[in-house]
Amino acid sequence: MSDRFAGTLALFATVAAGAQKLEIFSWWAGDEGPALEALITQYGKLYPAVEVTNSTVTGGSGVNARAVLKTRMLGGDPPDSFQVHAGQELIGTWVVAERMEDLAPLFKSEGWTTKFPAGLISLLSYKGGIWSVPVNIHRSNVLWYNPAKLKEWGVTPPKTWDEFLATCRTLQGKGLDAPLALGENWTQQHLWESVALGVLGPDNWNALWTGKLKFTDPKAVKVWDTFGKVLEVANQDAAGLSWQQATDLVVQGQAAFNIMGDWAAGYMATTLMLQPGEGFGWAPAPGNGGTFMMLSDSFGLPKGIKNRTPALNWLKLLGSRDGQDIFNPLKGSIAARTDSDMSKYNAYLQSAAKDWKANKIVGSLVHGAVAPEAFMSQFGTVMEIYLASKNPQAAANAAQAIANQVGLGR
Ligand code: GAL
Repeated sequence: MSDRFAGTLALFATVAAGAQKLEIFSWWAGDEGPALEALITQYGKLYPAVEVTNSTVTGGSGVNARAVLKTRMLGGDPPDSFQVHAGQELIGTWVVAERMEDLAPLFKSEGWTTKFPAGLISLLSYKGGIWSVPVNIHRSNVLWYNPAKLKEWGVTPPKTWDEFLATCRTLQGKGLDAPLALGENWTQQHLWESVALGVLGPDNWNALWTGKLKFTDPKAVKVWDTFGKVLEVANQDAAGLSWQQATDLVVQGQAAFNIMGDWAAGYMATTLMLQPGEGFGWAPAPGNGGTFMMLSDSFGLPKGIKNRTPALNWLKLLGSRDGQDIFNPLKGSIAARTDSDMSKYNAYLQSAAKDWKANKIVGSLVHGAVAPEAFMSQFGTVMEIYLASKNPQAAANAAQAIANQVGLGR
């Protein structure tokens, strides 16, 4: 073969290889990006010929991304793989609409059916199929604080919501007007789920989602009562703050506590470079001790995508031990797999992994595990009704009306 011919062939090969593409869609933008970016870098090492587009839509908890995804999915332009919460968010929206490929064959060929906890696999399963690949386990019900500041103020992390309110009143007496740091709307809902779990306990929390406990039951109405009191100790400018800015208030000593999922640990350790236990401290949300409220970020394979093989390889990396151990130490989550290399995880994550094994596990509402999106997307209205009326019964009635409408628990 002439040199010129060989060169032309090589050029063709490069052009053909360069034509391989993969578009990944998520809300992990900006400060939330490093873990995903590390995984994409690893993908680039394994599949150098694939050009990866990292499409992100900013907005914590996917508040904006989900709307964009819906437009694209319904408009016949699905991304090759997209972030979605394991559980009802995925099943109740895209699986029932028959927009996803069943990944049970991939779980089988990769040997994953025994590598993930059985409870997680069942959360991803519906009608005999497994519908997405979980990359992590996040914990929703965590209280964050700044150890040096708590020491200075002479208080300790409260163990119940009553204790929390008493501690906050002490802090207010010392001139800290808003001891609780709160952010934009979805973070209020996030706070609500920790209050609800604390007031109801795990069994009644679960019973809400199976329809066995009505939102109008006096036990559930009481949640709003406590929630209202908790809101009174939060900052007034919450609506204008991202979850990271609410975290910053605690880090900078302008607030004592924040209730947030452990992506906050990722932000504090990876972005702010704080040492777990020194720069930031954690405890279960008040009244939540012994219960781990979980959620899992996962990626699925939509039907009709342009780049199926690169997308399958992306899912293989996500579900692999290496992939999970690259992503999670940066993200502030623990691996969804049971065989991760714990030496790669910081002190916060080691403690989360311990709780994940020892605690009672319940699912998060706000992050897609327990209720379909049809319920969750209307929960904001329930919140508005409560905030406008400060009437627990009115909020409870509205929540029950939506539960009936979407057929929760049926
Ligand atoms: C959650 C998601 C986390 C994190 C968080 C804040 O819903 O599961 O991975 O991104 O939102 O945006």
